[in-house]
Amino acid sequence: MPIYYVDGEFIDSDKAVVSVKDMIVLRGFGVFDFLRTYNRRPFYLKEHIERLKNSAEYIGLELNKSVDEICKITQETIDKNPELSECNIRIVFSGGISPDGVTPAGNGKLMVMVTPKHENPESWYVNGAKVITTDVERYIPESKSTNYLNAVVAQQTAKKQGAIEAIYIDRDNRVLEGTTTNFFGIKDGKVITSNKDMLPGITRSVILKLIKEKYTVELRDIKRSEIKDFDEIFISASNKEIIPVIEVNDLKIGKEKPGVITLDIMQDFADYTKRYGENK
Ligand SMILES: Cc1ncc(COP(=O)(O)O)c(C=O)c1O
Repeated sequence: MPIYYVDGEFIDSDKAVVSVKDMIVLRGFGVFDFLRTYNRRPFYLKEHIERLKNSAEYIGLELNKSVDEICKITQETIDKNPELSECNIRIVFSGGISPDGVTPAGNGKLMVMVTPKHENPESWYVNGAKVITTDVERYIPESKSTNYLNAVVAQQTAKKQGAIEAIYIDRDNRVLEGTTTNFFGIKDGKVITSNKDMLPGITRSVILKLIKEKYTVELRDIKRSEIKDFDEIFISASNKEIIPVIEVNDLKIGKEKPGVITLDIMQDFADYTKRYGENK
């Protein structure tokens, strides 16, 4: 049984609880972040914890621990789970117990959950996957708050349509991001991804760093009408890495199989994460 960290203690995962009075239960008020290990080394841990801090600042939630302290606790929680060859790590900071139910009182609780790494179907990577679009605008999209109502509902719609992800499109027809992924389109050799009003994905930032010498990158708004003209599309996330997209709604993309540039970026990313894991 995995060991979690909850508010100062390392405990069995099934004994890990949070008060029903916490704003995370009553109001959906809290923040979280998610990362994985490569060869048991947490991938971009500091960047994830810095994003957690930013997520909290965006919604007026004060983390009562420093970035360094949370990094240390996260590493300790990984160390408490030596039997896991590769881990998923979920770090949650709750809103805490509020005297009036709505005003944060600076007593939020930190939770770190380390679980076996979830494996995605091989076919997503080999054959590509379908996504759908959905007209949703996240509230304060730069914050990874625990309120994922839109995502949970959109994911159900996606599944019913044989898709693995739903991509948010806003009132100005801008393609923003997926429920838990960032979105990339490729046109005439250029790699295009939106740059604002979305969560700054850590996987996205690593991809951009890896490809900047190799491909022309455009960081800009993407219009819904561009989707049909993309030669290739892929999505990125910590728990998915890079997944080629071959269908959006009922529209076939490119040659209906993972495109050459996507495959090349997937390879570069795989090489990089392998080196990252070896470089402890
Ligand atoms: C809304 C949203 N966008 C993008 C991402 C991708 O971010 P990352 O690459 O840091 O996992 C996530 C991750 O869960 C997300 O929830």
